Amino acid sequence: MDLTAQIEVKALAKEFGKIIINSDKINIFQVDKQLIIDLFKEYGVLLFRGFKAECDEFLEFSNSLSADFMDYIGGYVKRQEINGNPSLLTVNDFSSAIKLHGEMYYQKHHPAMIWFYCNQPPLKDGQTIVCDGKQFYKELSDSLKNLFQQKKLKYPSKLSKNDWQIRYKTENIKTAIQICLDNDLEVKVNEDESMSRVYTCPAVYPSRSQEDLVFINSLLPAQAVNRNLVRFDDDSEISKEIISELNAIAEQITVEINWQKGDILMIDNERIMHGRRAFSDNQRDIYIRLCSLGF
Ligand SMILES: [Fe+2]
Repeated sequence: MDLTAQIEVKALAKEFGKIIINSDKINIFQVDKQLIIDLFKEYGVLLFRGFKAECDEFLEFSNSLSADFMDYIGGYVKRQEINGNPSLLTVNDFSSAIKLHGEMYYQKHHPAMIWFYCNQPPLKDGQTIVCDGKQFYKELSDSLKNLFQQKKLKYPSKLSKNDWQIRYKTENIKTAIQICLDNDLEVKVNEDESMSRVYTCPAVYPSRSQEDLVFINSLLPAQAVNRNLVRFDDDSEISKEIISELNAIAEQITVEINWQKGDILMIDNERIMHGRRAFSDNQRDIYIRLCSLGF
């Protein structure tokens, strides 16, 4: 049976992303695995639509293409485990917009790939947004390209005792410090047992093939939360003009995913940045998994 005849592969955007549409009621396990891998490597993000996958099928399908699922220790937002599975998590517990970012780019260990599953779409708004970090880099002015190659980003943060115990899922300060050190964070414990941490990392990385440069980081959401939080590694300010240029590029190259029930999204977290539009209803129920590539 020629299964390629039973799916339709459409462009998600001009230069990245594909939508794999079920056009003949096959199940998701019948889609050719090598085709998925090839499309993923070439286009960076795949949306599987119309396969009516239940959550169990999503788990099995994502297992078949992934390795080393992460449990989100050290993660910034609050996520709940679904059905007691530490590798199946809610997106988060708030409904405001989230600017484009690479997942967990505020620490060394971040997932190479992320999966999204739409258990229930929002009634309105709440689109997941994506952009190509390669394209983002190309759109930067020459002066910003130079600046981001010369200077790294520096994220300072302070966690209260309660906050680090939640973030690192431990009450043991030594364990928490070790997790920070393993993630290349500088860490200092204060008298009140709060923790001051600093993470320094590039804004731009070589692509997986080493052929291109990719703008991928957590700068825009971190900056939206606290304008003075992120600085360059020489402690100079990231000016309003720089942030305006980045936000303008982000909006211009953003692609929205309007969720349908059962949709599965597979994202290369070394190339594609993602985020979310705000929403106001209580229907939106999206899950994520964080992992390495299984191929
Ligand atoms: Fe995220």
